[in-house]
Amino acid sequence: MSEQKKLYIKTYGCQMNVYDSERISDALAPEGYSVTADENEADLVLLNTCHIREKAAEKIYSELGRMKQLKLKKPEMQFGVAGCVAQAEGQEIINRQPMVDLVVGSQAYHNLPEMMRDVAKGQKPVDIDFPAEDKFDHILRSKGKRKLPSAFLTVQEGCDKFCAFCVVPYTRGAEVSRPAQKIIDEAKHLVDQGVVEINLLGQNVNAYHGQGADGEWSLARLIRELAKINELKRIRFTTSHPNDMDDDLIAAHGDTEKLMPYLHLPVQAGSDRVLKAMNRKHTAEEYLKLIERIRSVRKDIALSGDFIVGFPGETEADFQDTLNLCEEVRYGQAYSFKYSTRPGTPAADRDQVDEVEKADRLKRLQTLLTKHQYEFQLSMVGKILPVLLEKPARDPGQFVGKSEYLHAVHMDAKAEQVGTIVQAKVTRTERNSLGAEIVK
Ligand code: 5AD
Ligand code: SF4
Repeated sequence: MSEQKKLYIKTYGCQMNVYDSERISDALAPEGYSVTADENEADLVLLNTCHIREKAAEKIYSELGRMKQLKLKKPEMQFGVAGCVAQAEGQEIINRQPMVDLVVGSQAYHNLPEMMRDVAKGQKPVDIDFPAEDKFDHILRSKGKRKLPSAFLTVQEGCDKFCAFCVVPYTRGAEVSRPAQKIIDEAKHLVDQGVVEINLLGQNVNAYHGQGADGEWSLARLIRELAKINELKRIRFTTSHPNDMDDDLIAAHGDTEKLMPYLHLPVQAGSDRVLKAMNRKHTAEEYLKLIERIRSVRKDIALSGDFIVGFPGETEADFQDTLNLCEEVRYGQAYSFKYSTRPGTPAADRDQVDEVEKADRLKRLQTLLTKHQYEFQLSMVGKILPVLLEKPARDPGQFVGKSEYLHAVHMDAKAEQVGTIVQAKVTRTERNSLGAEIVK
């Protein structure tokens, strides 16, 4: 048995990183590491980084600068950088911040135990390779009951779409789907640990085309198979590209009860000119038609999206098209960002929109999106919704769970109801959550 050591992971960015952080801790558990929430008591600090927006690398260097204080107090503390900034910067991180002991790219977590042994020998390993095999193959899921009844499960990684603004095809590499049986096994393992909701993850999840028992499986096929696991009650997936919403996946929203009525389907912009410049390969009209088809099989589906304002060349008229599209769709919830240049991507060298203008457009878009979100939440008041209770909330006796539409819902409950789906009558809406009462 190895000696007991503490691992502190700071996670940035998307849900894929949250999932990866979990697998990083699984990978290091056999080496004697247990996770701590207190950086001061860590033996190993890992920053699991995100490169998608803003000055990602600079933020990591300044965080490492701050963490030098920890190293001063505890000189034997070790530091590693993981994730997409690690993937993009590689050795440069150690050159700029010699305190760092290892750099591990987003595809190499299965090599962490070996890398830690190299660190113990005084080396500073850097591994940013893209392996041919499944990076999770050699990482065993930790055993024992799960803290939450809802879990992420990565089914595919990477992206071949090359949207003109995005670093993902460079940091996460080409699209790779995991074999279906491995996903089903992992899902069963999670269910054995008390999980009742699984969120299938992928940068381009609906492009899934993993090897199944009888040839390649689509995401819809995979979902239908997972739905057969008795104790699994809810299935979600994120994030999707409009062009990969095939007929079967649309149909699954109508006929697979366990598939939740929520779909994150980013469109990024509402102007055809901008969509073309973004290399999205569809028009606004095609997107709206798609939404119509999805709503025709599942009327109440909650839609979510991502938007970029101030993409190079975006005029006020283009931006108005984005606002109009939002009016048509009425998203239940959505994310929006100012365009930020990612070096190495096609849009980085184009004429940029003025920063003040970008900020103004973002504010106007967010005002509209927030209004739609609030109206959707308000429409829930008085309804009885099935809510998966997840964990205690801040107030004593209060618990929080998720509606089928992914609202956070607060209510009084008993601790033993956590992990079950309760029927709750919505009594009020807050800014970003609902309040409810359990009905007998
Ligand atoms: N600038 C702003 N937003 C971006 N996103 C991706 N790249 C950029 C960028 N360079 C947003 C997109 C994507 C989400 C995950 O992040 O909206 O869907
Ligand atoms: Fe990035 Fe998504 Fe476009 Fe792929 S589809 S390049 S991940 S924005």
